[in-house]
Amino acid sequence: MVNEAKQLDTLLKENRVFHPDPAFTKQANFNDPDIYERAAKDPEGYWAEQAKHITWFKPYDKVLEWNPPHAKWFLGGKLNAAYNCVDRHRQGPRKNKAAIIWESENGDSKVFTYEMLGREVDKAAHMLKNLGVKKGDRVAVYLPMVPELPIALLACAKIGAIHTVVFAGFSSKALRDRIDDSDAKLLITADAGWRRGSQVPLKAYADEALEGSSVEKVLVVRIVGEASGAKMVAGRDLYWHEEIEKASKEPFPAEEMDAEDILYLLYTSGTTGKPKGIVHTTGGYMVGVNTSLRSVFDLKEEDIFWCTADIGWVTGHTYLVYGPLSAGATVVIYEGAPDYPERDRFWKIVEKYGVTIFYTAPTLIRTFMKWGPSYIEKHDLSSLRLLATVGEPINPEAWMWFHKYVGREKTPIVDTWWQTETGCAMIAPLPGLTPTKPGSATKPLPGILVDVVDDDGRTVENGGGNLVIKHPWPSMLRTIWGDDERFRNTYFGKFPEWYLPGDAAHRDEDGYIWILGRIDDVINVSGHRIGTMEVESALVSHPSVAEAAVIGRSDDVKGQAITAFVILKEGNEPSAAMTAELKETVVEQIGKLARPEEIIYTAELPKTRSGKIMRRLLRDIAEGRVLGDTTTLTDPPVIEELKRLYQDKED
Ligand code: PRX
Repeated sequence: MVNEAKQLDTLLKENRVFHPDPAFTKQANFNDPDIYERAAKDPEGYWAEQAKHITWFKPYDKVLEWNPPHAKWFLGGKLNAAYNCVDRHRQGPRKNKAAIIWESENGDSKVFTYEMLGREVDKAAHMLKNLGVKKGDRVAVYLPMVPELPIALLACAKIGAIHTVVFAGFSSKALRDRIDDSDAKLLITADAGWRRGSQVPLKAYADEALEGSSVEKVLVVRIVGEASGAKMVAGRDLYWHEEIEKASKEPFPAEEMDAEDILYLLYTSGTTGKPKGIVHTTGGYMVGVNTSLRSVFDLKEEDIFWCTADIGWVTGHTYLVYGPLSAGATVVIYEGAPDYPERDRFWKIVEKYGVTIFYTAPTLIRTFMKWGPSYIEKHDLSSLRLLATVGEPINPEAWMWFHKYVGREKTPIVDTWWQTETGCAMIAPLPGLTPTKPGSATKPLPGILVDVVDDDGRTVENGGGNLVIKHPWPSMLRTIWGDDERFRNTYFGKFPEWYLPGDAAHRDEDGYIWILGRIDDVINVSGHRIGTMEVESALVSHPSVAEAAVIGRSDDVKGQAITAFVILKEGNEPSAAMTAELKETVVEQIGKLARPEEIIYTAELPKTRSGKIMRRLLRDIAEGRVLGDTTTLTDPPVIEELKRLYQDKED
């Protein structure tokens, strides 16, 4: 708690308040202040109202059935997510509206109108059917941010197949784990991807992952071509462009899905070494994500919506695909790095396409701060009317900088707290109604009943505790794929009727929520969730490692950086080569995003008498803090030794 106390201290000195501009409020979709109270009194009524924005093939019979921890929403309703995202817009005035504006790192761009997107999705749906994919089958997708990625997702949704996207920065091993757990029969990948002008050999990674797996067929999107050196395996691998050519050009009739049929699985980290397959279903998810576009993002017909996340994460699923497209928006998708070829790439994109809503992560804002405002000042950003952040707490300084330089002190900023499990934003301002305080995600959205409670479940009116959500909401996860027991224990183990997100929070005297970070062994590196156990398992898989303990220490840009404390097996010596090898092992097992920033070798790790590693103490050491209570340690001198080792490393 030392860390949190320090952080809290800084946060609570924050007393700036920004009131919505009356002109913004006047035009806002959500501008009736009574909405909070009405929704709190009757959440089901509120969600039923929102469900009218979704097209149902058959109306639902009942809004909610709640048998904790299992919720069912919109029971008996039939719908299709792809129909809602594409087809219904093809039939009206949005037919020729840009649905996706895609730009690649090398400057290529493509625009898909709703009609064009619809045709591509239909062809892809026929192609998947031709390959034997059926309703309920799992399709793994391992692609960079090319247009085929959203098209693949929507095609799966159209035929009722369950997609599971694996972020293209994950390693072969991580891909294999997800394929095995989901029992996918098809993999969609690419020959290679581009990153800062270099190739990323995705197909080679996929080949490694596939040996002996459940996957029967592989569809390969050709991005690089010959130069990728990708090898096609006869009888298993097929090129996307060849198969789609063969597919029928006829409209594909959308599969009628039950509201509770699974739309997708998305893996995320937890406290054990094994990632969890979060299960999202069709009806509730679509209602939730569509609502948040209209409420939090105040989406209007003429908006150009850009979310900088990768579709490999939930933010990309919800705010590049299902949310904005279901609402008929124009979405910008950028495949590339923010500093390629120059550090003004993002602002160039904003100016070029007239982006009006810009959604990004605090870690990127801190990177822009480091680079200085000159890259921004070169561009006309006057099209922007709303800014948003997600992924980790935003420090007030970064908020102010975003406000000043990107928002030109005019646009509202919505800090959105949510998770892979929640499906869409949960705690965030309504930009026309909620005064904002830099660093606070403000208040739960209408229909979301959040509380801060102590370990006995007692409400903490003004102070810190566990964040809980006390009433189900439509886009909540339904279970963990293949492991309902883990679902129950993880999220409902502490309080059987309330959802426990695993975050600590502070509520101030105005009822504002300040998220403090995780209460479990999950760390947040640049807005990406990484389980300490996953990194530890990767390290101990190396033949020279006896034991490892991993912690996240504060980092000015990434939020948290990974520090690993490692005990080598007898006969092994620490060296720069060993460090490089161990870091590489983590990259191979998980991906670059989990590479430890530093490795500290030690002969022992601080443990409690019951044998648990005291990560809190390791964090204190790594952050150079006065140590907290060490009386429960089996061997207190271990700490002094570790402190010395850590300081030596810094000299
Ligand atoms: O700790 C919270 C943090 O990110 C976690 C969820 O991570 P993930 O499932 O990968 O989803 C990230 C994007 C939705 C949360 O438990 N987090 C996310 N958004 C915020 C945040 N912490 C503080 N403020 C936020 N706005």
